Amino acid sequence: MTVREFAAAKVNLFLHVLGRRPDGYHELDSLVVFASVGDDIELSMHHEHVISVEGPFADAVPHDESNLAMQAARQLGETMGRPDGVHIRITKNLPVAAGLGGGSADAAAVLRGLGRLWEVGPSMAFPSVAQTLGADVPVCLHSRAARIGGIGETVEPIQIETPLALVLVNCGTALATPDVFAACSTYGGAAPDLTDAGIAAWVRAGRNDLEGPAMSLADGVAESLKELRGQAGCGVARLSGSGATCFGLFKDMTAAQKAAAALGAAHPDWWVVAAHAR
Ligand code: C5P
Repeated sequence: MTVREFAAAKVNLFLHVLGRRPDGYHELDSLVVFASVGDDIELSMHHEHVISVEGPFADAVPHDESNLAMQAARQLGETMGRPDGVHIRITKNLPVAAGLGGGSADAAAVLRGLGRLWEVGPSMAFPSVAQTLGADVPVCLHSRAARIGGIGETVEPIQIETPLALVLVNCGTALATPDVFAACSTYGGAAPDLTDAGIAAWVRAGRNDLEGPAMSLADGVAESLKELRGQAGCGVARLSGSGATCFGLFKDMTAAQKAAAALGAAHPDWWVVAAHAR
């Protein structure tokens, strides 16, 4: 038996850093959505745990035990007392160390997929295992729009009726999340709440406190934002997560596709995609 799961890219539409905890992690208030672009995960029964990775960004991730997807399988197996092995096949379509939570999405997809492969359904063990794997894994397990709090463990689902039209732009500079958080020294208040003005107005009212730090570490961030803001129909452009990927929120998919085509042509070495998100 083989099961397939989609590991959707996580996009932080706003990310307020509220402060630093004594353990070094940061308290966040973030609106997260999931895009129609992502990695493909395939799981099948095997006598031991093995992993194979292909796809455009395969070379940028570990092909061994240290891959977070492999750790997810091991930890869930140990927690649930399952001796079974699994062959994890990842098609890595998302850039790595990019602020899109690709590794976390892969790990979360492995948890969801093992629930199906082992025919145990969504396990009670999922949330605790997800939390130990990384701060973004709990929301990636949900893989739908949510406002996250704490260091990422509080996940409050948000209903998005009409999918959002995004353009994602990555200039190719890998940014390590701990480095970007370490460069963040000023913290701000929480985001306002959603009003009748709608999601786009809510996103515009927010900010990403990691944008300044990311700009100081990667020149391409400022250029990505400038390029996105210059496209017709772009309501807001901002960094996602710790970067360096930036998103533009567009009025509709037609405008997003047009902008992505123009940006891709102007910057053939950038990763540029139009995607819907919810
Ligand atoms: O949990 P995860 O391994 O994904 O986090 C990577 C790094 O990002 C952490 O080691 C920490 O430096 C930083 N981080 C943080 N506050 C968060 C999430 C991540 O400082 N809420």
